[in-house]
Amino acid sequence: MVITESCGWFALCVHILLRFHHVAGGADHVNFKTDRLNVLLILADDLRPSLACYGDTVVKSPNIDQLASKSIIFQNAFAQQAVCAPSRTSFLTSRRPDTTRLYDFNSYWRVHAGNYTTLPQYFKSNGYITMSVGKVFHPGIASNRSDDYPYSWSVHPYHPSSLAFERQKVCRGPDGQLHENLLCPVNVSEMPEKTLPDIQNTEEAVQLLKSVHNKKDPFFLSVGYYKPHIPFRYPEEYLKLYPIENMSLAPDPAIPSGLPSVAYNPWTDIREREDVQALNISFPYGPIPKHFQLKIRQNYFAAVSFLDAQVGQLLGTLDDLGLSDSTIVVFTSDHGWSLGEHGEWAKYSNFDVATRVPLIFYAPGLTSPHPKFGPRTFPFIDAFSYTPNRISKGNSVESIVELIDLFPTLADLAALEVPPSCPDQSFHIDLCTEGSSLMDFLNINNVQNDDEAIAYSQYPRPSNIPQKNSDLPHLEDIRIMGYSIRSAEYRYTLWVGFDPSTFHANFQDVHAGELYFIESDPEQDFNMYNSSLHADLFQKFWKHLIP
Ligand SMILES: *[C@@H]1O[C@H](CO)[C@@H](O)[C@H](O)[C@H]1NC(C)=O
Ligand SMILES: *[C@@H]1O[C@H](CO)[C@@H](O)[C@H](O)[C@H]1NC(C)=O
Ligand SMILES: *[C@@H]1O[C@H](CO)[C@@H](O)[C@H](O)[C@H]1NC(C)=O
Ligand SMILES: *[C@@H]1O[C@H](CO)[C@@H](O)[C@H](O)[C@H]1NC(C)=O
Ligand SMILES: *[C@@H]1O[C@H](CO)[C@@H](O)[C@H](O)[C@H]1NC(C)=O
Ligand SMILES: *[C@@H]1O[C@H](CO)[C@@H](O)[C@H](O)[C@H]1NC(C)=O
Repeated sequence: MVITESCGWFALCVHILLRFHHVAGGADHVNFKTDRLNVLLILADDLRPSLACYGDTVVKSPNIDQLASKSIIFQNAFAQQAVCAPSRTSFLTSRRPDTTRLYDFNSYWRVHAGNYTTLPQYFKSNGYITMSVGKVFHPGIASNRSDDYPYSWSVHPYHPSSLAFERQKVCRGPDGQLHENLLCPVNVSEMPEKTLPDIQNTEEAVQLLKSVHNKKDPFFLSVGYYKPHIPFRYPEEYLKLYPIENMSLAPDPAIPSGLPSVAYNPWTDIREREDVQALNISFPYGPIPKHFQLKIRQNYFAAVSFLDAQVGQLLGTLDDLGLSDSTIVVFTSDHGWSLGEHGEWAKYSNFDVATRVPLIFYAPGLTSPHPKFGPRTFPFIDAFSYTPNRISKGNSVESIVELIDLFPTLADLAALEVPPSCPDQSFHIDLCTEGSSLMDFLNINNVQNDDEAIAYSQYPRPSNIPQKNSDLPHLEDIRIMGYSIRSAEYRYTLWVGFDPSTFHANFQDVHAGELYFIESDPEQDFNMYNSSLHADLFQKFWKHLIP
């Protein structure tokens, strides 16, 4: 443990005494110890808040729920762009996509936009040992084919070897043959290397925790899991948690009549898989046959439960190594995923289902009373044999927050200086934040709420009519940008002309608008946009977006 190693036996005794005193003094007395806490940042890939701790009644996620029971749960957290690389670059630098200028997968911010300091880099420069396991930065060009090593990480980022099989013919179809399918429950012992990327991720993370837990310096470990991103390749036993007869369609599976064509994402990546191709679904609007929609939902949820088991093992290791009382844990995802809502699938849109993410902060002594000696904080829970109501609910915050808030919040929690807010023109400023610290929300004795808060997201399109590259246009093909604001009352999106050579958005050139009122239309199916009726909202929006 960090504290004991650096101070020796005497300090250990004092620490124990103080803690004993603290426990004896009453469990509701919160003594938040900020110095030299470790950080464990757990990222999921394409995970919307389909978790029991977010009120989902179908999904079995006992280990994440248990973490949430000792945490602050942000019920309304939003990603800045609903696709992997832009979202990750955005929240890891705490800048919006318009400042990273990354809307696709094809540029590295340090040379393309500005030499922005990243979240792990900031911890590294403050004496932390920083480590990356799996998908933290988006791999490839977006992180200079190095996951931004050595700037962000003290040791070489780890990538699981079995990731190489993710897009190969390893999924056994109903015909008994191996295919490159969307739905891919597998017998792990029949997989190449007899493992899966997320299993390897957990093993590596456990090894790293063992190697650093008694070092003098604190650690910042980020573990980026690959699920529930497609293909849904996971151990087949998790299917048993979701009998197909228990599955239901999205509450709003039809494409709403008021949905502008530019807002629709045609889920091109799903169509490429062999099992989906065999369905001969028409482009761009489908629909996917109902029986297959149910299967996609079933497989997504099964992949979530597999992910949950990985998280459970990782958190159990914190207990094993005595780290649960000295480690901040954050669980989140890069963005959400449509499961048939509005006739849409995958990410690539501005709707809540694509932009909303789980965001859970555990800070020992702050979001929950300091763990006591003896009982485990995060005992592993087996999804196949647990009683859901046994897991107590955590404290929820309803305020709208953004993923770019993660960086300043973690800095604040770790008692590092919070980076200053960025000025309007921040292209050449290495260290500043476009988010804000959420520290005020994290004290269970005084949970705050901010009804006025809003979140900004955006999505680019090459054209008004859905085409093959509408989900993920390259920068040079972008012609329209959908700017979206989400308040507690509404989601308001304007699709405006965009010039990819100057990065200029032209708000005189409105291609379409969307306005959904959250209370009466939580699924966002009834587009109330009318430029003359809602001039006041439009003005508010305009004021923020035009410097
Ligand atoms: C970018 O910043 C890093 C440290 O944050 C520094 O080592 C590097 O030299 C900088 N690169 C440029 C081009 O300024
Ligand atoms: C990106 O990687 C290349 C090849 O390793 C390296 O030469 C270059 O300096 C890196 N870019 C930055 C900004 O560090
Ligand atoms: C998984 O594959 C192994 C090796 O082929 C086999 O022994 C085992 O019975 C399979 N398990 C199931 C549940 O089919
Ligand atoms: C399926 O639904 C039935 C009826 O609601 C329920 O009793 C059963 O527990 C469900 N099965 C699973 C595995 O959740
Ligand atoms: C696929 O659908 C198209 C019309 O949507 C139809 O013309 C074609 O025959 C179908 N192909 C197969 C193999 O079913
Ligand atoms: C907006 O609403 C007003 C009042 O109902 C109506 O007169 C006008 O035609 C509408 N405008 C559009 C663009 O639908």
